[in-house]
Amino acid sequence: MNAASSTAWWKEAVTYQIYVRSFADSDGDGIGDLNGIRSRLPYLRELGVDAVWLTPCYPSPQHDHGYDVADYTDIEPAYGTLHDFDQLVAEAHDSGLRVLLDIVPNHCSIEHPWFKAALAAGPGSPERERFHFRQGNGDGPPNNWRSMFGGSAWQPTGDGEWFLHLFTPEQPDWNWNHPDVAAMFEDVLRFWLDRGADGFRIDVAHGLYKHPEFPDAEDPFEEERVADAMNVLAWNRPEVHEVYRSWRRIADSYAERDGKDRPFIGEITGIAKRHLADYVQPDQLHQGFFFEMLDSPFDAEAYGTTVRRGLEQAARTQAPVTWVLGNHDTVRVATRYGGGAPGAGPGDIEAGTARARAAALLALALPGAVYIYQGEELALPEVVDLPLDRLTDPVYRRTEGRRLGRDGCRVPLPWSGTAAPYGFSTNADTWLPQPPYFAQYTAEAAQADAQSTWHLYRAALRIRHEVLTDAGPVQFLPTPPGVLAFRRGDGFTFALNTGDAPVDAPHSGTPVLASAPMPEGKLPAHAAAWWTD
Ligand code: GLC
Repeated sequence: MNAASSTAWWKEAVTYQIYVRSFADSDGDGIGDLNGIRSRLPYLRELGVDAVWLTPCYPSPQHDHGYDVADYTDIEPAYGTLHDFDQLVAEAHDSGLRVLLDIVPNHCSIEHPWFKAALAAGPGSPERERFHFRQGNGDGPPNNWRSMFGGSAWQPTGDGEWFLHLFTPEQPDWNWNHPDVAAMFEDVLRFWLDRGADGFRIDVAHGLYKHPEFPDAEDPFEEERVADAMNVLAWNRPEVHEVYRSWRRIADSYAERDGKDRPFIGEITGIAKRHLADYVQPDQLHQGFFFEMLDSPFDAEAYGTTVRRGLEQAARTQAPVTWVLGNHDTVRVATRYGGGAPGAGPGDIEAGTARARAAALLALALPGAVYIYQGEELALPEVVDLPLDRLTDPVYRRTEGRRLGRDGCRVPLPWSGTAAPYGFSTNADTWLPQPPYFAQYTAEAAQADAQSTWHLYRAALRIRHEVLTDAGPVQFLPTPPGVLAFRRGDGFTFALNTGDAPVDAPHSGTPVLASAPMPEGKLPAHAAAWWTD
């Protein structure tokens, strides 16, 4: 069966995450846009992915690059128009690609008309009830909650009240107890589904509701962090599940019309792992990102545990795992696995790249869905040395530079040529500067080199479609330390060597793909391979 043509196409789909600002620029302003994406659809088709997920492309003042939405039913002017969106969806569909949008229901932008109306209407007004406005506690904020991006989660309005923002002060949190909010989001979903969207990634899906009395958190932790695992008062409230039940009814009503599921994939982080399954239910979300692989070190035993946990969870929930190695919030894989990061230097990029290639073969060999963040197929490293005066991530500003933030994984993609803007744009002054070494990482160079990571991904996607869709469950093979190996069905074997010395290949079949050359049939250090019988 070809998963792409079935109702439940998302279960085994490989989705390519497009960070819209940084994918391709069609109009020379140095910022990616929808027509840029249209121009690169042949590239995605050639790579062989099944779907794309577009990060938020709605009108936004870009305080958090689109995760601060000013209008949920239009397109950011710097990215194009609704007409461009319609064209993009039509052309993507013609290329056999599905299009997932990113919905941001926890918060909006201070530029959203309902928030502007709330500020103008003043304390006690019905307009303020759509958000969380509260009187301060003496001179201070209403409680001790912290924002995910640093500092207090409350911003004073100047009229005695404060409003809640679990992210930046430019991202006020919606009050989901207000019927207008729930109704508005249902209209938004229908708006985009009617325009051809094939599903949604849900931003901070475990957010939305807060403790109704806003008590102080027991641990108002000193150090800001990205995952506020502590503050159970602000996240993962039971009421949120009712929202997803009603959204699922909407998605299912579209699927009933034409037999094509419209999946919801939740970004659920920082809460106890056992709670993920509460969201991924037949009457709620189709899937939730399984971030444990992204958090795993490059280590066979750690991967083994992660894969087992993912598969167990899938068996419990009936929802296939979504394997993730990278995204727009995380240090790029090649740098992470090479021991580098912003502030810590580039690390050992050669080793990191070898490991990233091996890890990609692991993710793509597993049952379930896989998400590829743009540039992973080029083995793009994190840009760890962006000039500080060019950093744009609010995390940098809100933590007063203690955390450098996520700009380094969001640098515009290098497509071709030997100098900036590397075919990304006609304007070398891209919104984040591209480093000179991007010349080695262009898509053009990768496509011309049969050994490149691009060709590895492409071959893996092709073979995955041919032999791994519905290939059967994972059966782990006994292996020496540092090696992870499994069979799927009767005809496929996977092995990964995270140790420092070559090992005997665990299978005598035909090697069909390897992340590194395999002299004398041995699996080298930091490499993975696929065999068919
Ligand atoms: C999610 C997004 C991240 C954004 C945050 C606030 O975690 O992935 O990029 O900053 O939500 O919307």
